[in-house]
Amino acid sequence: MQTMEPNQPENMKLRRCDSAASVPQFCNSPTVIVMVGLPARGKTYISKKLTRYLNWIGVPTKVFNVGQYRREAVKTYKNFEFFKPDNEEAMRIRKACASAALKDVAVYFSKENGQVAVFDATNTTRERRAVINSFAKERGYKVFFVESICDDPEIIAENIRQVKFGSPDYIDRDEDEAMEDFIKRIDCYKTSYLPIDDEKDRNLSYIKIFDVGSRYLVNRVRDHIQSRIVYYLMNIHVTPRSIYLSRHGESELNLLGRIGGDSSLSPRGQKFASSLASFIRGQRIKDLKVWTSHMKRTIQTAEALGVQYEQWKALNEIDAGVCEELTYEEIQENFMEEFALRDQDKYRYRYPKGESYEDLVHRLEPVIMELERQENVLVICHQAVMRCLLAYFLDKPADELPYLRCPLHTVLKLTPVAYGCKVESFYLNIEAVNTHRERPKNVSINRDPDEALQTVPEHV
Ligand SMILES: *[C@@H]1O[C@H](CO)[C@@H](O)[C@H](O)[C@H]1NC(C)=O
Ligand SMILES: *[C@@H]1O[C@H](CO)[C@@H](O)[C@H](O)[C@H]1NC(C)=O
Ligand SMILES: *[C@@H]1O[C@H](CO)[C@@H](O)[C@H](O)[C@H]1NC(C)=O
Repeated sequence: MQTMEPNQPENMKLRRCDSAASVPQFCNSPTVIVMVGLPARGKTYISKKLTRYLNWIGVPTKVFNVGQYRREAVKTYKNFEFFKPDNEEAMRIRKACASAALKDVAVYFSKENGQVAVFDATNTTRERRAVINSFAKERGYKVFFVESICDDPEIIAENIRQVKFGSPDYIDRDEDEAMEDFIKRIDCYKTSYLPIDDEKDRNLSYIKIFDVGSRYLVNRVRDHIQSRIVYYLMNIHVTPRSIYLSRHGESELNLLGRIGGDSSLSPRGQKFASSLASFIRGQRIKDLKVWTSHMKRTIQTAEALGVQYEQWKALNEIDAGVCEELTYEEIQENFMEEFALRDQDKYRYRYPKGESYEDLVHRLEPVIMELERQENVLVICHQAVMRCLLAYFLDKPADELPYLRCPLHTVLKLTPVAYGCKVESFYLNIEAVNTHRERPKNVSINRDPDEALQTVPEHV
């Protein structure tokens, strides 16, 4: 249900964004994103990546992959003949799979608080798009199409190699054989594929992506979420690269067990900075960019590298407000209740006059967008900041985010592969204090004050 202001005349209650809908669409009605395009055009890649981003910024989103429904309906895949347009039995199955997926989309919106569903299917006809459109209109959902168009045989072959060989359809198959079958499979769709048409489809909301982002065409963006989606899709790229995440070297306040603040590196922190410099040189990274926060401990760490670096205020550590620079004992003495509250929902808990992890994610959104645009980058940051960035790349939910392990003096190397990210962890062998605290086992609302005292608090 939409929230409405009380005591307003009936006609004022339906604040519609789109007057063409048969069921009123509200500004915050759920959105179905429909992928369009031939196989091996990166539709699943875009679906998963966009979903990860939307979830990270706090918009509940889920992918509905019709291919997966098909694989469940037809357990073993023989060959491309399944996809021939004149294979009636198969066509019936494929239609049933598409409607089953649409039904699940409706359940996701009505029962599971979903806001955005990404419909990852291959059916490429105007007729099929009309079916999805009317399904959505009947229920007041908005529809946004994302079409990926690519005719470069090299990009297509690379895509098949990267993601299709690993697919359950081609497990235990010879690579040449799989490639040949997949290309025939694409040909099955080519006969009926009608790209979104500038004229005939001019009332639809869509973005067309040409040759993995060398050109875009955007039509009738209807709301904030659609413009966010367009903005995101126009910033991502597929050039191979790695992102290195590291915290600053151990700081003087780390040693004293005081949280936050803006202190210098400890002697061990300085040692780490030099080790980081040799580690990075050893990686022989092409055109590496180095980013730090505005805080001394990250700047001093970057200085040891002897290369240019850029400072971002957005990368500053979470603001612990009234708890800044206090020791654990001092916080326990002065803010015992705050401690208990933080344990109950560490992601949303906001320090008095400070920030929450949720605030931090919003502050870091421009950093993520710029990381998407860039190639090789080393980000020297802080524990809470690194957790937020890591959660984005590894698709970790909000409740796990504040407990991700990001120890001092350890570099994480993230390399995008197929649909996810490979993580390598390098401990540079310089000792440091441990600032990690496990999720407390027992969290109760009316906590016994003595019990609260037994919890060992974490660094931030
Ligand atoms: C797409 O679905 C429509 C039915 O909605 C069907 O007539 C058409 O043949 C399908 N096309 C392909 C390529 O699967
Ligand atoms: C687009 O919408 C307008 C207004 O609702 C309608 O008159 C027109 O026929 C539609 N055009 C197409 C190509 O569907
Ligand atoms: C957690 O609380 C339950 C009951 O409140 C208790 O039985 C259990 O032993 C507690 N576990 C830990 C690890 O403290």
